[in-house]
Amino acid sequence: MPEKILVTSALPYANGPIHLGHLAGAYLPADIFVRYHRLKGSDIIYICGSDEHGVPIMLKARTENVSPQQIVDRYHEMNKKSFEEFGMSFDYYGRTSSTVHHEVSSDFFRTLAEKGEFILKTEEQLYDPKAKIFLADRFIKGTCPACSNPDAYGDQCEKCGTSLSPKELINPRSAITDAEPVAKETTHWYLPLAKYQKQLEKWIDAHPEWKSNVLGQIQSWFKSGLNDRAVTRDLPWGVSIPEDVAKKYNVDAEGKVLYVWFDAPIGYISATKEWAQAKGNENLWKEYWQNKDTRLVHFIGKDNIVFHCIIFPAMLMVHGNFVLPQNVPANEFLNLEGNKLSTSRNYAVWLNDYLQKFEVDSLRYALACNLPETKDADFSWKEFQARHNNELADILGNFINRTLIFAHKYFKGKVPDAGQTDNLDKELIDKIIHAPAALGKLIDNYQNRFYVRDLMELARFANKYFNDKEPWKTRNSDPQVCATTIHLCCLLY
Ligand code: MF3
Ligand code: ZN
Repeated sequence: MPEKILVTSALPYANGPIHLGHLAGAYLPADIFVRYHRLKGSDIIYICGSDEHGVPIMLKARTENVSPQQIVDRYHEMNKKSFEEFGMSFDYYGRTSSTVHHEVSSDFFRTLAEKGEFILKTEEQLYDPKAKIFLADRFIKGTCPACSNPDAYGDQCEKCGTSLSPKELINPRSAITDAEPVAKETTHWYLPLAKYQKQLEKWIDAHPEWKSNVLGQIQSWFKSGLNDRAVTRDLPWGVSIPEDVAKKYNVDAEGKVLYVWFDAPIGYISATKEWAQAKGNENLWKEYWQNKDTRLVHFIGKDNIVFHCIIFPAMLMVHGNFVLPQNVPANEFLNLEGNKLSTSRNYAVWLNDYLQKFEVDSLRYALACNLPETKDADFSWKEFQARHNNELADILGNFINRTLIFAHKYFKGKVPDAGQTDNLDKELIDKIIHAPAALGKLIDNYQNRFYVRDLMELARFANKYFNDKEPWKTRNSDPQVCATTIHLCCLLY
């Protein structure tokens, strides 16, 4: 039986288009991995979709004066389409506003509640008396105590970068109505993560092979000790808290939803369920999620590490009967021409813009050469141009082109039979024999940069082989040798 592999890429927020940073972080590496395993015959499925809840989506809806649903509809369609054009080979691209997802995630919450795994806390939080809603940190603006920027947010001042709490802001005001927020009591469900720290540590200890950037972050979370995490919010947009559960806790569920980081990763499960339904085999999702031998791999960017390596696994453990990730090969960030990418500052190369001008494979190749696998990387148009011209076109493209043209012209478009081989032929044969396993191993170990480098190295060698063999001469002087040369070149292709 081939191994069962379940691959996910972080569900992108449906509040803006996809940019190159996304691609280099969580999407292209996963797609390379998945395509390799499909070729190999592994039993693999690749799941992704839109993350459609959370405060930024609501803020965007407010600034455009439309509903959050309209925002997510727009970006879900846009991102789905540009991923398709980019050649992403998802088996299923779901979305967290779907009915199935709402069911699956509220059932998940209910199961944890019934197991008594949550604690309830009542605390004061800032409230907008005009809009009559509790204000997430992002919804509160005020003057930054560090740099006096009058428009700092309740979680961070974007001008000086200081991270803040709403209480530190001078003259705080609601970002929605400008009203002065008042403190008001509210009750929420918390997942007491400290309780599971030992179990999580034991599990992580069994994975010394994980990338060091990932293990480093996890260890520092463990070191400072895990805290209780609120898994619900007072917001008008999201997955509603199930009434029956709220009743048991004597809490009014009205206006309360699951925290976006609670429901979003469950989106991987609900999207797999939808995939199974679409295949006409309702229970097929269980063969992946509820099978301890499944190799579950989450591809993400580094800002998602704590959620995928600590919080979601804790949720899965507590729920029971789910496989835990076998690896979470998180990438670092991609910069653009030396500067940080930023959606809010509109500093990015947007995928849909790129697709209108250039070829997909040029970008896939240039990004793959330069993935932020171990440290932040930089994308520049100069390098893009050089990768396209000097490597993709001049080496790989040239080799394939000349081989096929030659076979077409002089061997009637057929692969000629090989004759006797000399040392140089044997060197090439040796490389052809060893390449699949060696390249495959790099892909399996999430080292795509080395994989594309070695692949191009092979093409470089093949090109030189073609030159050294001079088939345009041997065609007349020694047709057997010429046939062998072209035979081997075709094998490589
Ligand atoms: N939307 C999140 C982000 O872009 C990622 C969500 S991943 C999931 O950072 F696991 F929660 F789905
Ligand atoms: Zn500041």
